[in-house]
Amino acid sequence: MSLFPAVDPIPLPAPVWLFKLLHIVTLALHFCAVELLLGGLLVATCLCFFGGLRGGAPLLRLNAAASLTRRLPIVMTYVINLGVPPLLFTQVLYGRAFYTSSVLIGMYWISVIVLLMACYWLLYRFNAAVERGRSAWWLGLAAWLLAGTIARILSTTMTLMIRPEVWTAMYSASAMGNHLPPHDPTLMPRWLFMLTGGLAFAGLWMVWLAARKQIETPVRSYLAGLGGKLAVAAAVAQVLVAHFVFHNQPDKVREGLAANPLYFGAGLAWFGAIGLIGLTGAWAGFKKPTTAAAGWLCALLGLLAAAGFTVVRDGIRDLTLSGHNYDVWQQTVVTNWPVVGLFLVLFVAGLAAVGWLVSVMMRAKPVSEKVV
Ligand code: HEM
Repeated sequence: MSLFPAVDPIPLPAPVWLFKLLHIVTLALHFCAVELLLGGLLVATCLCFFGGLRGGAPLLRLNAAASLTRRLPIVMTYVINLGVPPLLFTQVLYGRAFYTSSVLIGMYWISVIVLLMACYWLLYRFNAAVERGRSAWWLGLAAWLLAGTIARILSTTMTLMIRPEVWTAMYSASAMGNHLPPHDPTLMPRWLFMLTGGLAFAGLWMVWLAARKQIETPVRSYLAGLGGKLAVAAAVAQVLVAHFVFHNQPDKVREGLAANPLYFGAGLAWFGAIGLIGLTGAWAGFKKPTTAAAGWLCALLGLLAAAGFTVVRDGIRDLTLSGHNYDVWQQTVVTNWPVVGLFLVLFVAGLAAVGWLVSVMMRAKPVSEKVV
């Protein structure tokens, strides 16, 4: 008997490879935004905590924190908007597993909406306080705890969806959705991977911000130096956590990842990117660059790292599910080409519109960001 619910009788309206491609691209972008939020928020909170005392270096820290807090509500809009497309693609490709896991922990899953709204509200409160020259680190900490909890719930859902062997027992214990799954050795490393990645992304982001002319010169070089050092430490930590992510997988999954050229190549790309992030961070920590080129290099490395780990993560899911006879590629497809064509045209037009908006923003006259 299959552990998965019956197949949806409606066939997929587009080829699996197209859904997969769009899923991975949009999810990698969601992860970039998530990492900026998790890492940027924690760094801003620490800067506020240590910058709470006025005068000298603490003031510098408060201004550096403000350069992050001012942008965090915008980052949150990207987290949410870039979370919606992969959510839709996940439902299409893995609905039978994904719906089951989210229903089984339904109370936690639905609480994400409330936690998200509270986190968003705190981001605005935190920034408003920092812009008035107040440290208010506790607001940042509360927002970070909420964001970390959301990440934890998402990691729990995504790991439970590939463990059909525990579903029946969980449902028999309670149909209320108020029980968490039994211990899973892959969950903690997976969550920590995202948290440490957040710090690496925050470091890269700070080097990027160091090129912004509206930020005062001493704050810019402080951001570049601190961001660089943070990127080095976080890159080392993430490699360690990645080791646990990989080694806690079942043998079959590890072998599958090593044998598949796509997953192996993506793993290598991630490893190369994280190595370069470490090296660039060391250079930035030492040289404190305030150039656009350094910022773009960091953005590129961040994107490459996110793309690499998103593909490997996808491999972990597909290989684990195929061990339970769930083959994502074996689904009935009846392609509706006019709809696919229309979708692609609108998708490209949407990207062009976003590109134009970004270019307008980049050309806007900078306004000084000095706080106190
Ligand atoms: C503060 C807000 C958020 C945080 C911190 C966050 C964090 C994360 C993390 C850590 C994961 C990876 C989980 C894992 O596999 O271990 C994830 C996956 C995901 N997130 Fe978010 N997320 C946030 C908001 C959202 C929102 C608002 C949406 C949708 C509207 C969303 C959609 C998704 C989807 C669809 C996935 C997984 C897709 C897949 O596995 O196919 N997220 N998120």
